[in-house]
Amino acid sequence: MKIQVGKTSGFCFGVRNAVDKTNEILKKEQNKKIYCLGELVHNKTIVNQLKKDGLIFIDTIEQAEDTTIIRAHGVEKKVYEIAKKKNIDLIDLTCPSVLRIHKIAEEYALENYYIFLIGKKEHPEIIGTYSFCGKNASIISEIEDVDNAINNLKESNLNKLLIIVQTTYSTKVFDEIVKEIQEKIPQNISIEVKNTICRATELRQEETKKISKEVDLMIIIGGKNSSNTNKLYEIAQKECKNTIFIENSEELDKEKILKFEKIGIMAGASTPQKSIDEVIKLLE
Ligand code: F3S
Repeated sequence: MKIQVGKTSGFCFGVRNAVDKTNEILKKEQNKKIYCLGELVHNKTIVNQLKKDGLIFIDTIEQAEDTTIIRAHGVEKKVYEIAKKKNIDLIDLTCPSVLRIHKIAEEYALENYYIFLIGKKEHPEIIGTYSFCGKNASIISEIEDVDNAINNLKESNLNKLLIIVQTTYSTKVFDEIVKEIQEKIPQNISIEVKNTICRATELRQEETKKISKEVDLMIIIGGKNSSNTNKLYEIAQKECKNTIFIENSEELDKEKILKFEKIGIMAGASTPQKSIDEVIKLLE
């Protein structure tokens, strides 16, 4: 059996920074209550470990009583305002790539651009970024949402459009949606497209595609609620008919995988190295 592990598997820069800094804070501030707004990263193994180490997870900033960590995906603008009023000390671990999109959205909204934000409506990053887009913005989660977004744009009477996208979105789907918008948009509207998919995501998607073409079985490891891992699964499925999506080695069906000779492994941006190593160990 030959095993090929993606070089870009596992923690990206933003997640590593968030996890490392949170661990440092928990060690240093053992007598203090430390809160985290939402899941720090979309991975149960990590979240459970942090809970054991004393991190208190909350769903809204109103529940915070003391120092509060902001996760890599970022939060809504109002969180900063409420924290300030409540005198809460915020430790902002939002990934710099996400902060950059917040800044772009705010600047263009001030310049009277209508904004199309491409990404999953319910994803925390999109909820956060949307709050920086001002009132003239629409979220496009899939190609079917384009018509509705264009109608909203027409109603706004604005003639400049900015298109931005979730950092972990699929490059292929992003290109398809942009093409659809360009074909349907009225001629008097000028469009500015900013591909804000982060480089780490692009590289991981490219490598997933490449490895999936070369193996008999492709294993994608990551949280089931992780948007970027789900995207890897979709990409791999298209190239390799035997693709499975697991959260950890316990979910592997040992009998079934024995028949495969070439096995590929890729993992999402919030998958800890430990989970990847355990799968490799089990296969070996
Ligand atoms: Fe940041 Fe990209 Fe990771 S946006 S959190 S480096 S997937």
